[in-house]
Amino acid sequence: MSTRAIRGRILTFLRQPEGQGDSDSYRYIADGIVHVVDGRIAAVGPTPEIVRGLPPGTTVDAWPDQLILPGLIDLHIHLPQTQVIASYGAQLLDWLERYTFVEEQKYADPAHAAAGARFFLDELLRNGTTTAVVYGSVHAASAEAFFTESARRGTAMIAGKVMMDRNAPPALCDTAQAAYDDSKALIARWHGQARQRYAVTPRFAITSTPGELAAAGALMAEHPSCHMQTHLSENLNEIAATKALFPEARDYLDVYDRHGLLGPGALFGHCIHLEPAEIARMAETGSVAVFCPTSNLFIGSGLFDWRRLEGERLRIGLATDVGGGTSYSMLRTAAEGYKVLQLQGQNLPALRAFDQMTRGNAAALGMVDEIGRIEPGAYADLVVLDAAATRAMAHRMETVRDLEEELFVLMTLGDERSVRATYVQGRPQ
Ligand code: GUN
Ligand code: ZN
Repeated sequence: MSTRAIRGRILTFLRQPEGQGDSDSYRYIADGIVHVVDGRIAAVGPTPEIVRGLPPGTTVDAWPDQLILPGLIDLHIHLPQTQVIASYGAQLLDWLERYTFVEEQKYADPAHAAAGARFFLDELLRNGTTTAVVYGSVHAASAEAFFTESARRGTAMIAGKVMMDRNAPPALCDTAQAAYDDSKALIARWHGQARQRYAVTPRFAITSTPGELAAAGALMAEHPSCHMQTHLSENLNEIAATKALFPEARDYLDVYDRHGLLGPGALFGHCIHLEPAEIARMAETGSVAVFCPTSNLFIGSGLFDWRRLEGERLRIGLATDVGGGTSYSMLRTAAEGYKVLQLQGQNLPALRAFDQMTRGNAAALGMVDEIGRIEPGAYADLVVLDAAATRAMAHRMETVRDLEEELFVLMTLGDERSVRATYVQGRPQ
């Protein structure tokens, strides 16, 4: 039996905060201990209470003054785009052609994919992200390399090989049959194994034939516990091209709906320009709209209307979307999310942002019993955050009066420099 105690200021959310000052939405322990046994949380509570029950010789990692939260969760990110991030001067369709499709071809080489997976997971963990929903490249070897590396580290990851069989360079095109066979083999090998889960991943409507979308639908019907991830309504030219390719569809979402791709396990990246019927259908099916603020600003796609979608009872997620996105940090992502909402006269309270990055994104995955909360039975995937990590942050912290203000400083000024430690199954990374 391996046991460890992690001591500091513990913060975990109990439900979605209704706004600023909603102190019933979280549990905060000013001096607490998370007791970890064999990778899972055995107990959490105030130090005097927990310390009595620790087995003799338990290692205690003390983080005085630091905040201990559940590991951060990123709901949409691209493995083969670590060398696409920060590519200049293009909007979505040109950006894909000019930069993304060029880099993704390199993932045909398993050695390149393995090195990429190592870099990528290192970078996520340095940023306090312990679970991510990941697009591979079209090559099955990209997903294989990623799952192998993630399983070695014990992280809970959700990923899939991208399916694309048209409107891309020939080297990046599979066929409906090959996409089905490769995905099926990856599901058999990885879904539910060693904390890995499979996401059926048609890239977006433009790069899949109806036959391939049907193959994706068949995979979801055969493996209903898998997730499905794709892109939806990100850019106006993308929407026009989709409607031209699928004239029979009522709207963009309907292309996916006709192929059985909606539902509680479905994650739709962007959802910026949705029509009322699309919003209603997403709500009805429990599908998730994933907000990717740094990407939406960088690629110039538009402003995600959080208040409207939430008002229509859509499930919402938050994500970096590297390499369209410009940071691996969920803190930076929340900061840009705040600004996107400000531009529309909306707000993103710090409590809401931190809940979303942890419990909220876990709920969007249907995984709150395993990740996203510091509760007995959950995995001990944790992040230790320092709101005074930089000179400017320390200076600002001198005037901070409460936890909520501290969280707002963290999300507005923080990045990987604020991450003092990341634990996966109770092990420091
Ligand atoms: N739409 C289709 N593929 C992509 C991608 O790789 N990034 C983004 N942001 N949008 C997409
Ligand atoms: Zn994306």
